[in-house]
Amino acid sequence: MLASIAVFALLPTADPASPPLKPEVDAAWVARMDALAVSLAAILPEVAMPTPTDAAARSARDERLRQHARSLAALAHGVANSERLPDSDPTVPLLSAKLEASVAELAKRDGERLKDAVFVVAATCIGCHTRTDRGAPRPRTSLAPVDTKLPAWLRGDVLSATRRFQEARAAYRVAVADEKLAEAEPTLWERAVKRALVLDVRVARDPQAALEVVERVLATPAGQPLWQDAIGWRGSLRRWAGEKPNPDSAAELEAKAERLLDEAAGLERTPDGSGADILYLRATAALHELLARAPAPAVRAQALAGLGLAYEKLKDVDIWALYATYDEACIEAAPHSLLAGECFTRLERALKEDYLGNAGGALPADLDAKLTRLRALAAPTPATPKGI
Ligand code: HEC
Repeated sequence: MLASIAVFALLPTADPASPPLKPEVDAAWVARMDALAVSLAAILPEVAMPTPTDAAARSARDERLRQHARSLAALAHGVANSERLPDSDPTVPLLSAKLEASVAELAKRDGERLKDAVFVVAATCIGCHTRTDRGAPRPRTSLAPVDTKLPAWLRGDVLSATRRFQEARAAYRVAVADEKLAEAEPTLWERAVKRALVLDVRVARDPQAALEVVERVLATPAGQPLWQDAIGWRGSLRRWAGEKPNPDSAAELEAKAERLLDEAAGLERTPDGSGADILYLRATAALHELLARAPAPAVRAQALAGLGLAYEKLKDVDIWALYATYDEACIEAAPHSLLAGECFTRLERALKEDYLGNAGGALPADLDAKLTRLRALAAPTPATPKGI
């Protein structure tokens, strides 16, 4: 495993003159987000709830799904290049491209596969909104309230995808406290637990609130598979609650991310090493914030490498395989460097683990082609083009 120390060992100090965050988000961006929210808030409950048995109701539902999918695709198209971007974190164009790709899937699918694809779209909205505590805590326009009859985990997802963080936190808490859900739908319950933690840690920055969630997990009999992790979470939250809030200059953010990644790696090396998620989440928040300040290119590349590392560890918490996006961005930000080599090694290993497991064999052709391109870009010296 690549130690985080190696990733950060060469970290130069951030440019002290890095510009502050843009205070105002572009109106066109906001308008597009509001429109996305209308379609997402409609399509997510529709695919999550049982399909009507009556044929006429079912075909009306299918038609509505098609309409929402079309409108999401139109809105997500070109989101990264049509407006002034909200901040300098390269995550914005990277996740915008992911959003565009994930909504394009909707038109090709139905049934369970459509449902999965809609959940990927919602995870992309949530992942981008909950990077840090920056930005308005709730939408500027008033969105239609979420139906209180929907299950709490689903309300939490709709609310967090549409940036209604306080209400989302409340809904996830209801889901986490639901012992029946933990027993009958462990996957949904676990996701509610983890999303509650993402919101408490990265957006609300409230270790006490996150501790309440963790205590709930430890008091839930059906939550036993999470207990070992929860004990790790509790330890890091308690230490965090005792920390002094530190002023966040770019240099301090760098130092903080480095410290958190080191601490997480240390925790993982302990005999029952698990539960470093809180530390990785805090590290990602610091790195996203650092990137939002448009740091010097070398710092930017290091921060992308840190995100690649952290998101691989967080793949069960945040967006699955997001690490690949950052490892790729790291290689592109510092081609033919030692750092690019580290990012490539990690990417290749992680993709093989994820796609092939212990079975071995070949990666899907598109991934294989991507790795071939990135291997050349990460190689210590640029390859001489053929024929020269
Ligand atoms: C690439 C990052 C990104 C993705 C992906 C994304 N958003 Fe946003 N969204 C933002 C940013 C940045 C803001 C502005 C936050 C601020 O500063 O207030 C925003 C704001 C919003 C707002 C509030 C707008 C207002 O009225 O103030 C809503 C609602 C919203 N997004 C919905 C969605 C939905 C639904 C999706 C998924 C279909 C989505 N967003 C995907 C980045 C993203």
